[in-house]
Amino acid sequence: MDYPIIRPTLPDFAEVEAAFRGIWASGMLTNHAHVRELEALVADYCGVEHCVATANCTSGLILTVKAMGLTQGEIILPSFTFAATGHAIVWNGCEPVFVDSEYETFNIDPEAVRAAITPRTVAICAVHVFGLPANMTALEAIAEEHGLPLYCDAAQALGATHNGRRAGGLGHAEVFSMSPTKVVTAGEGGLITTNDGELATRLRQMRDYGKGPDGYDMRFIGLNARQSEFHAAVGAATVRHSDEYIGHRRSMISHYQDALRDLTGIRFQEVPEGSTASGNYMVMKVRAGESKLDRDELYDALFARGIQAKKYFYPSLHLHEAYGPWRDKYEGKVPVAERLSKEGIALPLYGHIQKADCDVIIDAVRNLLS
Ligand SMILES: Cc1ncc(COP(=O)(O)O)c(C=O)c1O
Repeated sequence: MDYPIIRPTLPDFAEVEAAFRGIWASGMLTNHAHVRELEALVADYCGVEHCVATANCTSGLILTVKAMGLTQGEIILPSFTFAATGHAIVWNGCEPVFVDSEYETFNIDPEAVRAAITPRTVAICAVHVFGLPANMTALEAIAEEHGLPLYCDAAQALGATHNGRRAGGLGHAEVFSMSPTKVVTAGEGGLITTNDGELATRLRQMRDYGKGPDGYDMRFIGLNARQSEFHAAVGAATVRHSDEYIGHRRSMISHYQDALRDLTGIRFQEVPEGSTASGNYMVMKVRAGESKLDRDELYDALFARGIQAKKYFYPSLHLHEAYGPWRDKYEGKVPVAERLSKEGIALPLYGHIQKADCDVIIDAVRNLLS
């Protein structure tokens, strides 16, 4: 594939070499000084009191639900999300309650959340889709009104802001990913941020099997979700470059959008006034019946030209095979999410993509859709 959907953006190897040699020499391979350093760096970057690093975002989400004591009851989430958002709820024995999203932002619709609250609701889970924070002002008000915890799958959103607040300090806890497709990668990795000290302490114990302070007695049924020192060293180096990577992504997204905006039937993610996105993905909506090709036809035609796009998120979560028990209940009930999953297509984007590469992709899309 000449133009892959992503290439991980990594700092120069010289920036991690000394750390790698130090880890090698010390024999401290996991959950040690580099993990602490990364946690402090991210807490400072996000302006929160605590950051707990995990092996990946999925285990971070599973532990966050568990550490909040949510083992039964309903958790409200958008259906337009990546599967891990729902998996963490189902793994904990909670019932996922799928709600619809806003067409313009791709994010969970606060009014749909309000309408879905029942006496069985135990939490609300927002997702910052493609790195754009959900409408947290509205969601925090709803959560407070109903006395419900609100946590965020912020996998794609490190560096984003909502009304002047950095992602990381929104809701009760947020969980970021450092997988290879993310703005800030460590190869694999997760970061949980919170201002709740007790929650952070539980999470630290739970990522280490659930060990209590004496190191022997298991206080919780936890996971091994520790982060290795190597990943933390890479993560810390990339976090230090995050503003540079995000700035470049944002300018390439603007370039794509300016060059494609006039095409019939094409729409982009709208960033509300007061918010900024991390620029994790350059996603377009291709409106069937208006655009010359529909999303799937465009995807195939780009593929044939050596350009890897991504149907994103696809399908809507309640329509996955693993979510069979919820398909009948929700099919047709979250029409915007279903529509977005049929229209959304991500084009290649990464923190060091060259403008000339974007221009080749732009030309291909224009030739296919003009
Ligand atoms: C919205 C969302 N949630 C969760 C995840 C899972 O992250 P990880 O791969 O670090 O477990 C991803 C990763 O793609 C994601 O995009």
